[in-house]
Amino acid sequence: DAAPSFTLNPAAIVAGEMKALTANIQDLLSSGHPSLDKVAKYYIQSEGKHLRPLVVLLMARATYNCPKLVGQPRPDAASPDTNINSPITSPSILQDFNPSYSTTGPFTQSQSLSPPPTSLPPSSSSPSSTTTQISPSQKRLAEITEMIHAASLLHDDVIDNAEARRGSPSGNLAFGNKMAILAGDFLLGRASVALARLRDAEVVELLATVIANLVEGEFMQLHNGTSSQSSSSPAVAAERYSPAAFEHYIQKTYLKSASLISKSCRAAALLGGSTREVADAAYIYGKNLGLSFQLVDDLLDYTVTSSELGKPAQADLKLGLATAPVLFAWEQYEELGPMINRKFAEPGDVDKAWEMVQKSNGLQRTRELAESFSRKAIDAISSFPDSEAKEGLEQIARKGLTRKK
Ligand code: FPP
Ligand code: MG
Ligand code: MG
Repeated sequence: DAAPSFTLNPAAIVAGEMKALTANIQDLLSSGHPSLDKVAKYYIQSEGKHLRPLVVLLMARATYNCPKLVGQPRPDAASPDTNINSPITSPSILQDFNPSYSTTGPFTQSQSLSPPPTSLPPSSSSPSSTTTQISPSQKRLAEITEMIHAASLLHDDVIDNAEARRGSPSGNLAFGNKMAILAGDFLLGRASVALARLRDAEVVELLATVIANLVEGEFMQLHNGTSSQSSSSPAVAAERYSPAAFEHYIQKTYLKSASLISKSCRAAALLGGSTREVADAAYIYGKNLGLSFQLVDDLLDYTVTSSELGKPAQADLKLGLATAPVLFAWEQYEELGPMINRKFAEPGDVDKAWEMVQKSNGLQRTRELAESFSRKAIDAISSFPDSEAKEGLEQIARKGLTRKK
């Protein structure tokens, strides 16, 4: 499908929900500390693709008419008992010392996650939301997914010493490392509160695992599978290409880039009461979509200029990272081994490795691998009943292959 014509706009299918998303997240992030609010909301407001929440919302709709578990209803997150929409605030500790405030003793109020439910609009308040096929808890899941993503970007930009993201100064540059780290932690804290309020232990476990996976993936990347510090890695200090190096890269890529979307897709299906088979299919879609997207990302780092990307290109080699293009090239050019092992740290390494990748078949093989993951994503949901949302998910998997940033 060379020049595919995309007649469908996936975002339009859930436009109402997508429109409400940013405002709802901002409500979840209000803290009473203006500068914390500003940093925490920085990547929520910037011109991102909001791909993860889009996929979660589409998955919620695409699984709506799929087989459901009978006799085992999921907890109803919209019940008055749960109150997923009541404001999350951090009440002042001072009120605990005001004897007239509480008759039940000090600290009662500060321990409560849920002050009296009042003003917050429900997550589903958008007027253009014409569908009841997406539940309040699935909408909240989409918001939580974006919050975890934004937290990981704030931390990532500190780790990578980034200067730009989405064409604007990165959070670390705009606010400094300390505020960027703290704001990321705050996002994770508030995302966790919102998650707990879904009252679904399996979904809590999935998203908590995602947070751990993001860190594990980042750690695998730090050591690149080649450092003596990662003695448990099978790819330690290999001079010659071995499949273990590639397996290490794919595992890292899953943890860093596909865990969030795959487990969020599973959670979306579960929250809708889907059967295990449907939840598995949703997970496999998300896993392959995430892998495909990251492979395209790794490819674009070699094929697109900085101004087109909105962030510096050639960044991976400069960061010492061996991604798919250079790992494939290593199979053809053994001399890449030592450079990969020293993380392209010697003068000239970056340019030499770059040239070898360009003349190798590494870029082509990376593209083909991305295509095969994309096909697997589409195949995973082939048994879902036909719907616009299913078509939207298929199209996202196809479109990711031709994107330029
Ligand atoms: C972007 O990758 C980074 C990630 C997808 C995950 C980063 C994870 C952490 C920093 C661990 C901490 C996690 C949490 C939840 C706080 P990249 O640097 O390759 O891409 P980029 O070009 O977008 O920066
Ligand atoms: Mg980065
Ligand atoms: Mg990074």
